[in-house]
Amino acid sequence: MNILIADDDPMQRELLAGFLEKQGHRVLAAADGEEALTLFRRECVQLALLDHRMPGLNGDQVLARMKAGNPLVRAIMITAYGAVETAVNVMKLGADDFLEKPVDLMVLRQKIQQIELDLAVAEDVAGVTEALESGPLPLEIIGSSPAMQDTLSRVRRVADSPWSVLIQGETGTGKDLIARLIHLLGPTPTAPFVEVNCAAIPENLFESELFGHEKGAFTGADRNHRGRFEQATGGTLFLDEVGELPLALQSKLLRALQEQRISRVGGEHDIAVNARVVAATNRDLQAMAKSGAFREDLYFRLNVLDITVPPLRQRRADIPALIDHFVARYARRPMQFAPETLDLLVRYQYPGNVRELKHIIQRSLTLARGSRLQPADLPDEVRQAEGTEPGPLQERLDSLERDLLIAALNQTDWVQTRAADVLGISERVLRYKMGKFGIRRPEG
Ligand SMILES: Nc1ncnc2c1ncn2[C@@H]1O[C@H](COP(=O)(O)OP(=O)(O)O)[C@@H](O)[C@H]1O
Ligand SMILES: [Mg+2]
Repeated sequence: MNILIADDDPMQRELLAGFLEKQGHRVLAAADGEEALTLFRRECVQLALLDHRMPGLNGDQVLARMKAGNPLVRAIMITAYGAVETAVNVMKLGADDFLEKPVDLMVLRQKIQQIELDLAVAEDVAGVTEALESGPLPLEIIGSSPAMQDTLSRVRRVADSPWSVLIQGETGTGKDLIARLIHLLGPTPTAPFVEVNCAAIPENLFESELFGHEKGAFTGADRNHRGRFEQATGGTLFLDEVGELPLALQSKLLRALQEQRISRVGGEHDIAVNARVVAATNRDLQAMAKSGAFREDLYFRLNVLDITVPPLRQRRADIPALIDHFVARYARRPMQFAPETLDLLVRYQYPGNVRELKHIIQRSLTLARGSRLQPADLPDEVRQAEGTEPGPLQERLDSLERDLLIAALNQTDWVQTRAADVLGISERVLRYKMGKFGIRRPEG
């Protein structure tokens, strides 16, 4: 990584520079704020380590100018020991983190590793976004929350490989969309994507659906039929709800996957098939495999690579953008959301995840009387939502911060300068945080 160090203390500078160079980073060092900014403009800096107290421009000022030049630059502020208040201010200004003096090098190394990981995720996600925008299939996937960014980053990395992928996640989390995205990002996006809903095909028709049949194979088979496996040749075979597959059919599926050959029902010879297999389930397949409800060998065959789609309540930051998305899609007239309505929608638990949110929006749009959606227009279970369940501290803080931002924006009619004033932060930081939490003004 390219790291810029700004510190007026030469000893400190050399210590940090030497340590970071040994870790394989490229280090630029500046003795004051001006010099730091000159280097920053000239070089591609990914991370800045800024001493908070420097003669001339201090760390805050340098940081503000850097972020104005490149909002993506990461920054760690180095503050005097015990200066908690400064630390809070520094984070408000958009530093990603801070360290107290004397700098603990092991902690510094950890923080840098985390930032490297974040940057790698951001890069993968940029790849996904680009593919979504330029791909042959129109796919709209909302996902700027950290949990979803991780998932998309993983999708990007598994998509290229020929191995099977198992997508797990609660019902309605978007497993279907992720399967399509894997296909779209894979090596053959224009080849067929063939879906088989394992829960929906009657057991006695399964073989003929999957493997096809020859004319006359059974009553009603009045012509040759290519099964889904054959249709998917060269592309992706998506086995949805694979956990619902009866055991007898699991063996047949396993054989086809192992041998990469199938025979049509009533057919005389084998046919070679080569489709990339993506499977999805909302069941705990591993537990099912342990208890014997799912063939263990098939589980391993499907689960070479795995993706878990997080439930919506673990990525509440996506809720406002999803609402916008569904309103844009389904509203027949302009529709606004009362702040309390939005608040309830962000806090609800969503046992049915994104699908449930979509249905709630569709239903409320249909039933709403005015042009402003009121809490009364929401289903009972949403109105009675008992706040968010306690989660990890960071998540709770994020959700609190998000609520405060939205409240300030609503209070000021979404005039960002005024909302920033109310919150006591700069407008730039407000915009940064709105981006981070996926906050957008409701349409209408
Ligand atoms: N991240 C997302 N962005 C936009 N729409 C989504 C997203 N996730 C799910 N949806 C929508 O929610 C509904 C349920 O998603 P789906 O992929 O069928 O869920 P699952 O297969 O996990 O049950 C679909 O209408 C889908 O388009
Ligand atoms: Mg599904």
